Amino acid sequence: MQAAISVLGMGRMGSALARALLKAGHPTTVWNRTPAKAAPLGAAGAEVAASVHNAVAASEIVIVNVSDYAATESLLRNGAVAAALKGKLLIELTSGTPAGAREVQDWAGRHGIRHLDGAILATPDFIGTEAGTLLVSGPAPVFEESRTVLGALGGNVQFVGEDPGLANALDSAVLALMWGALFGALQSIAVCRAEAIDIETLGRQWSATAPVIDGLVADLIKRSAAGRYAADDETLSTVAPHYGALHHLVELMAARGIDRTITDGYEAIFRRAIDAGHLHGDFASLSLFMGRPAHA
Ligand SMILES: NC(=O)c1ccc[n+]([C@@H]2O[C@H](COP(=O)([O-])OP(=O)(O)OC[C@H]3O[C@@H](n4cnc5c(N)ncnc54)[C@H](OP(=O)(O)O)[C@@H]3O)[C@@H](O)[C@H]2O)c1
Repeated sequence: MQAAISVLGMGRMGSALARALLKAGHPTTVWNRTPAKAAPLGAAGAEVAASVHNAVAASEIVIVNVSDYAATESLLRNGAVAAALKGKLLIELTSGTPAGAREVQDWAGRHGIRHLDGAILATPDFIGTEAGTLLVSGPAPVFEESRTVLGALGGNVQFVGEDPGLANALDSAVLALMWGALFGALQSIAVCRAEAIDIETLGRQWSATAPVIDGLVADLIKRSAAGRYAADDETLSTVAPHYGALHHLVELMAARGIDRTITDGYEAIFRRAIDAGHLHGDFASLSLFMGRPAHA
């Protein structure tokens, strides 16, 4: 018999989580603030709870997936619900900050509730598939107990550490990588529009250049991990040629009136590194000018 699970929040993601649990054979209870959104899950075989308290009381494992931690707090932090959660496992899959997850764990600990925090690195269509990625942090033994349940949500569930903030921290790091590419694409599109280049041409250039960019990012990560900031025989590019090429882009953008908020940020980081003597360092030396490491 599969473990009974309650899911709070039947938005796009919560509904996908509940469907995956049903598909894996878990008796599933769902609750949503707007009841109409829970109805399709009821039709698919879930129990629809009339209140948060009823949903929490129905299962030993409670998954929460609402908009943010403030919403979670408004649902769970009252005497009756907290008491119903006592001794149970709360899996918080709402997106949030590392500090937010640590705070939830403190609250859960004070109320005798076991807790894992997860970050979902997937859109709802990937939930319940082999390619669905979830990062999970919290006590290792609790994660081990929950492997089967979490495995129903995605084939790539990764335990990232006992500090409950780690899943959200890594999630934010990956999002920074993603937005680097997406906001870079926004700038490329603006340049193409300003210079009357067909945007589909940019699509073909992306396909051709993506492997080069992939290689540069992988090299930057590898060198930063190893602390190899000085240029050496394996350096792909130093700071100097990047900085020179940035000015070609900035000049074009200025001439065409394209927003330079993002390139102003690049300029500021380059300047800090160059002023500190890294013009001929490996590009990875810029990573020294992005802020303080946790254990500095
Ligand atoms: N969609 C994605 O691709 C994706 C990917 C990774 C992570 N996530 C994360 O998953 C979470 C949900 O995202 P989503 O895409 O499912 O959003 P969504 O479709 O907008 O659903 C939001 C859910 O939160 C509920 N909610 C919001 N405020 C509430 C409150 N004060 N009290 C009770 N319930 C409240 C909503 O209830 P009502 O229906 O009553 O409004 C709804 O069930 C977010 O943390 C998001 O960052 C989403």
